[in-house]
Amino acid sequence: MLKRIALLTRKPGMTKQQFFDHWNNVHGPLIAEHPNVLRYVQNNVVKKERFVDRNPDPDNPLPAGYDGPEVDGVVELWFESREKMDELFASPHAKKMQADGLLHLGTITTFVVDERPVVDRSPANQSAGLAINLKGQRVLITGAAGGIGRALVRGLAAAGASIVAADFNPGTLTALKDELAGQRIDIETHVLDVSDRAACVALAGTLADAPITALVNNAGITAPYALNDDDAYANWDKIWSVNAAGVFNVTKAFLEQIKAARGSILNMSSVAARAARGRNTAYQSSKAAVTQMTRGWAVELAPFHVRVNALAPGMIETPFMGPDAHDEARIGQMLSRVPMGRRAKPDELVGAAAFLLSPLASYVTGTVMGIDGGFDAT
Ligand SMILES: NC(=O)c1ccc[n+]([C@@H]2O[C@H](COP(=O)([O-])OP(=O)(O)OC[C@H]3O[C@@H](n4cnc5c(N)ncnc54)[C@H](O)[C@@H]3O)[C@@H](O)[C@H]2O)c1
Repeated sequence: MLKRIALLTRKPGMTKQQFFDHWNNVHGPLIAEHPNVLRYVQNNVVKKERFVDRNPDPDNPLPAGYDGPEVDGVVELWFESREKMDELFASPHAKKMQADGLLHLGTITTFVVDERPVVDRSPANQSAGLAINLKGQRVLITGAAGGIGRALVRGLAAAGASIVAADFNPGTLTALKDELAGQRIDIETHVLDVSDRAACVALAGTLADAPITALVNNAGITAPYALNDDDAYANWDKIWSVNAAGVFNVTKAFLEQIKAARGSILNMSSVAARAARGRNTAYQSSKAAVTQMTRGWAVELAPFHVRVNALAPGMIETPFMGPDAHDEARIGQMLSRVPMGRRAKPDELVGAAAFLLSPLASYVTGTVMGIDGGFDAT
């Protein structure tokens, strides 16, 4: 996507209101309806959004009765490529507008703002009704075939993102792809063990031609054990290799892609990062590490226009809870600290995730958002 900003000068004697009326009635529709213009923004207000693939129409008629010269204002024209932009400005359509005094190319100052595939932060993406729009974003989700991952894949795809789903488990990943294909949702899938640093780097290489713009570090595991247990070392290493090192490995491997896109990262922490209970310290401390990676990278990557946030879910109904999920006494004990008195469905994380990845959260970074039914408030 390429954005060109035009600065126009108002004719002496013309009022602002006349300018706006004039622009809206004459230039706006003309430019917005040009086949090559994806989006047209005037003074920060989206006037029109079009996605068209036909060729320029040289016979596009000018409106009758136009008699004014140029006016002042700031206009953004969005194109899918430099070629498309040049095509518009060289088209008979533009020449006709120029000849008729509607578009003074010679007096327009233009800046090509960015030719990289940047995340679309135009006001169109913060459209009417504050709808979350992830169109144009290519989001890599790890642990995508698990309970929360599947909900995120589905929800972020519904918000317009193109999804690259990665998971350790090839079977559940294929099942997810097939299930979504049946619902006409097309996702790209890759088997990935986030604890395997070389595999993360290799996947980044595989995706280099179609780079990601956002990353959701969701893969995580848990296992209850006590410090005294025989397998304490093994448990510690395994949990940290996925939950903490895994987040680092994937982020590091995809950093350049995310920086190039001025994109964002969303990590999956947990209420366990702050709440202590026995037999779970590897998990708790690994999630505390995720929280602190989030905060540290938010500071480190802000100069690159990359935002980094995290979710801290409470009790979510997924296979993650293992045998605990069916232990009513255990569930009851855990729910006693949840003001809302229930567990969440994985879908209840989608809104927060989509928001944090979207342009609506353009000034949000370093935040860890609790999705916990009030647990952290107690
Ligand atoms: N479910 C909860 O109550 C809860 C609460 C707080 C935080 N979380 C966090 O949310 C995230 C997702 O949890 P979930 O509930 O969906 O769990 P889940 O067990 O349903 O899914 C986890 C997914 O991660 C994948 N995975 C495991 N190891 C991997 C690896 N090395 N590389 C890549 N993928 C791997 C699994 O195959 C699985 O598909 C985890 O980070 C978890 O810690 C969950």
